[in-house]
Amino acid sequence: MKKSNSLKFKLFFWYIVSLLLVGFFIILTVHIYQYKYSAFVLSVVFIILSGIGFITIYRITRSLTDLSSQMRQITSKNLDKRISSLKSDDEIGELGKTFNDLLDRLDIAFKRERQFIADVAHEMKTPIATLRSSFEVTLQKTRTNDEYKKIIKDSITETDRLTTTLKDVLDLAWSEVPNENLRAVFNLSSLITELSEIAQKLAVKKQINVSYRITPEIKINGFREKLGRAILNIIDNAIKYSPEKGMVEINLFKRDDKAIIAIKDTGSGIKENEINHIFNRFYRGSKSDKVFGAGLGLAIAKATINIHKGIIEVKSKAKEGTMFVVYLPVE
Ligand SMILES: Nc1ncnc2c1ncn2[C@@H]1O[C@H](COP(=O)(O)OP(=O)(O)O)[C@@H](O)[C@H]1O
Ligand SMILES: [Mg+2]
Repeated sequence: MKKSNSLKFKLFFWYIVSLLLVGFFIILTVHIYQYKYSAFVLSVVFIILSGIGFITIYRITRSLTDLSSQMRQITSKNLDKRISSLKSDDEIGELGKTFNDLLDRLDIAFKRERQFIADVAHEMKTPIATLRSSFEVTLQKTRTNDEYKKIIKDSITETDRLTTTLKDVLDLAWSEVPNENLRAVFNLSSLITELSEIAQKLAVKKQINVSYRITPEIKINGFREKLGRAILNIIDNAIKYSPEKGMVEINLFKRDDKAIIAIKDTGSGIKENEINHIFNRFYRGSKSDKVFGAGLGLAIAKATINIHKGIIEVKSKAKEGTMFVVYLPVE
């Protein structure tokens, strides 16, 4: 920063200019009115006021310099550090507090990212280790062709799982920072119709009846493909966690300025103590061991709905079924 650009320089410059002006007027006043002691009284007042002005300017600029030198010391490595010595509750104190609040948010975000990387590593490590040890065991002796075939088949299933998990991880990463260039107004009704048709295909194997009621021509602004995958995750769960011959209902309608998507199933339901966790990354409910998944589906759904400024709610009763409701602002 150039010295003449600094706030300190500017403040003091104008301060001295005004002091000179005031001084000039005092001399003028004393000359015109010629009261007894007036020169003395006015000089004392002048000196006191200029002293106060000097101290005020000095304090403001010093606490600003202080603040910026403290800010400079904070990097990604010491995000838990905060601006201290904010005694003043003026605008500068407020600036410091705002900065501390910003740090709080950044700190939480950084910790979350680190935790996420740790979780991903953990999730990937176990299946890879399992795969490796099964190869090792296989190699320990000669086996029949059928045995080899079975082991290779199992390994392919395992790698497929890994691929799905990795895809989900990428999906989740991108759903939090979408490519704004892809944002557009699109027809939500046609998207949900397409998804409902996919759902019917997915449900055939389990003889689940998928019905849908969709109000046409509801348009929203956002990312069609991403939102499609998010909603499909919810639909996929409805089918996955329903027993054979269950029912899944998909509804889309408009209320006020919100598009509402409701996905209801007659599945296993979610226990009360689990419901608060289902949107967490890698969380899988107690009954999910037999059902394939990485526990990322709902985390992706929620992150995607968030970037559409929407909300997702869930109502569920164990053994009776579950209903997910998504509210999205319409265009
Ligand atoms: N429709 C549903 N019915 C019952 N349980 C559900 C339903 N949707 C989600 N869950 C529970 O929430 C958990 C998290 O879901 P999700 O994030 O999609 O992960 P995943 O399906 O891979 O387990 C699931 O493991 C399951 O226990
Ligand atoms: Mg899922």
